Amino acid sequence: MSQALSDLLGSKQVRTDPESLKNYGKDWTNGFTVAPSAIVFPESNDQVVDLVRYAIDQNVQLVPSGGRTGLSGGAVAGQGEVVVSFDRMNKILDFNAEDRLVTCQAGVITQTLQEFAEAQGLFYPVDFASAGSSQIGGNVSTNAGGIKVIRYGLTRDWVAGMRVVTGGGELLDCNAGLVKNATGYDLRHLMIGAEGTLGLVCEVDVRLAAMPEPQTVMVVGVPKVEDLLAVLQAFSKNVTLSAFEFFSDLALAKVQAHRDLPSPLAESVAFYALMEFDTSGLDAASEAFNDCMEAGWVVDGVISQSDAQAAALWGLREGISESIAPYTPYKNDLSVTIKQVPEFLRDVDRYVAESYPDFEVCWYGHIGDGNLHLNILKPDDMSVEDFMAQGHAMSPSIFALVEERKGSISAEHGVGLLKKDFLGYTRSEAEISLMRGLKDLFDPHQILNPGKLLV
Ligand code: MLT
Ligand code: ZN
Repeated sequence: MSQALSDLLGSKQVRTDPESLKNYGKDWTNGFTVAPSAIVFPESNDQVVDLVRYAIDQNVQLVPSGGRTGLSGGAVAGQGEVVVSFDRMNKILDFNAEDRLVTCQAGVITQTLQEFAEAQGLFYPVDFASAGSSQIGGNVSTNAGGIKVIRYGLTRDWVAGMRVVTGGGELLDCNAGLVKNATGYDLRHLMIGAEGTLGLVCEVDVRLAAMPEPQTVMVVGVPKVEDLLAVLQAFSKNVTLSAFEFFSDLALAKVQAHRDLPSPLAESVAFYALMEFDTSGLDAASEAFNDCMEAGWVVDGVISQSDAQAAALWGLREGISESIAPYTPYKNDLSVTIKQVPEFLRDVDRYVAESYPDFEVCWYGHIGDGNLHLNILKPDDMSVEDFMAQGHAMSPSIFALVEERKGSISAEHGVGLLKKDFLGYTRSEAEISLMRGLKDLFDPHQILNPGKLLV
């Protein structure tokens, strides 16, 4: 097959060496079998079409691959698939200032797009810790969220058009940057968050935002989880928040140990809220802070005086994921409505403490939009296999708590391999059956990202 792929694309665009198979066959998850048969690097939409047509003809399965920073196994190739890397489709093709539209190939790195926007005096607002390596195609395929969703929404909100190759080998040009287009089903939105199971996203027209004014960051200590919401409301009244994140004292301890950082506050507190807001709202923020102190919701706080200090405070939140990675955590990415957050968090804490008293629970996430990252840390004396099996065994109980509240078992990380057995906790049988129908329609030969999302 490798010769046929080389004939199709050119030998420089195909790799089968063990190192490449290992690196390109996985994402940031652990524990899944990694066994692709080849990695291919198309350079154009036409080459992606050729690949899909070849795959149909030869009954080869394809796994799309971006920056491979995913946390649900969506880019893992474990059964001899051909990995389609977009590393060579990494150009910004066009910029249209009138529409504030930038056309990116799927392999453009998120941070490259952010920097490009800045160079035009504009702003690409979707942001998260892995922006330096994740790619636009992957962001679109998982509808990436991150740290600024409360103000700017998700990736979906910035995708104005795309070129995508379906599993039938057709190149679709969806929406082409239009703001208004009332001509029926919007296939672009079906592709967003589909994890590459319906089509291979090749190019994306991204809408840019106006450059925000300078931002200030504040971190406050909040002893009680329910008071996090009181703080959110107090600040939201008169302050334009760009982010409202939280982390627990355990999460802070891990990031401090990992990066050798001092404590932001004099005393340790059960929870911390990190807020980012327009600096012009500083007076209103100080007022809200005083109100929160008076009410006893907040016990202390620190505010950035410079961009460097703001970045250092952000490091306390954005460094958590990498600092707990050595504990091979059992990762959960859950959401409920904001109102339900405190009770939900307490119920999960109670369940884990009662059923798995030896496990440490590390909470952090985007509480301002209802998205909680629940990471259960592996005890040192337990093997990764045993721990993952226990994590899988506890999932039904945790997901039942999500289901009770009509929440989501995967708020922003996608379903991939990790959560597909549990999709029914968030989506009804009728929905899943329609999703299967869509899969059959867009990928009739079942060659695109097999085994992901749907069981
Ligand atoms: C985050 O918010 O830090 C990311 O989603 C990564 C993670 O959950 O570990
Ligand atoms: Zn997150």
